[in-house]
Amino acid sequence: MNVVVVGATGDVGYGVVARCLARGWPVTAVGRRPEALAALADEKWAGSAPLRVHTGSIADDAAAAALRDEIDIGRFDAVVLAVSTQWPGRPLAETDYADLSTFFGAYLRAHLAAAKAFLPAMSADSRFIGIGGGMADFVVPGLVPVSMMQAAQRMLYRGLHQENKGSGIEIREVMVVSKVNGRSNRAGADPRWLTDSEIGEHVCAVIAAPAEFAGPVLRLESPRTRRTER
Ligand SMILES: NC(=O)c1ccc[n+]([C@@H]2O[C@H](COP(=O)([O-])OP(=O)(O)OC[C@H]3O[C@@H](n4cnc5c(N)ncnc54)[C@H](OP(=O)(O)O)[C@@H]3O)[C@@H](O)[C@H]2O)c1
Repeated sequence: MNVVVVGATGDVGYGVVARCLARGWPVTAVGRRPEALAALADEKWAGSAPLRVHTGSIADDAAAAALRDEIDIGRFDAVVLAVSTQWPGRPLAETDYADLSTFFGAYLRAHLAAAKAFLPAMSADSRFIGIGGGMADFVVPGLVPVSMMQAAQRMLYRGLHQENKGSGIEIREVMVVSKVNGRSNRAGADPRWLTDSEIGEHVCAVIAAPAEFAGPVLRLESPRTRRTER
């Protein structure tokens, strides 16, 4: 199982890389910062599967197509997108549409560009998985654009799923309904949050047996969060 993880140096991507390697799946880890990728390559990982690192971007159609062409692994069995972009936190009344557009563009364009680049190069029985967030279903003052973006991402994946029916490619969004205990915040993480490793393991389970995860949008919640807190 050849797995490409875009956003491999991020909190969620790191967990996906770690769990895929632990399963013995060769991983190509992609990000824009060579130094962060070099640090990944230097780590001691569980399992003996090879980790390749590749500097590249899915920021737009041209970048994503170039990335696809540069990754020379024969076939893409699974592509996982774990990219993110930051909203500074600002009420809608103080937000220009141009700021929203820039924010949405950095994220939604990346998922769309990656889908357009990789899906035509993938064969039946491969997997295309985008990581998303649970704020698609609720709003927090000051962070409403994050909810808008995640809601749009959900529809993007529903659309990709519908429009590629018959291709045999398993398309899913794994919607993470929790803050993430990852490398950037491990020391201060709430023990109830999902860990990067738990998310990575869930993504691996979807890759291994997609038929067990009726798509297209898969909500992943923390088993340690009481339902009243959700
Ligand atoms: N962290 C959380 O608490 C949390 C909670 C719920 C859901 N999620 C979801 O999980 C996903 C990943 O979030 P995260 O927190 O792991 O993000 P993150 O830590 O900020 O990492 C993002 C990763 O994406 C890479 N990246 C960004 N734009 C890229 C592009 N155009 N091309 C290639 N690589 C790109 C970054 O590396 P470079 O900068 O080196 O390229 C980095 O490796 C998002 O969909 C987010 O909504 C996260």
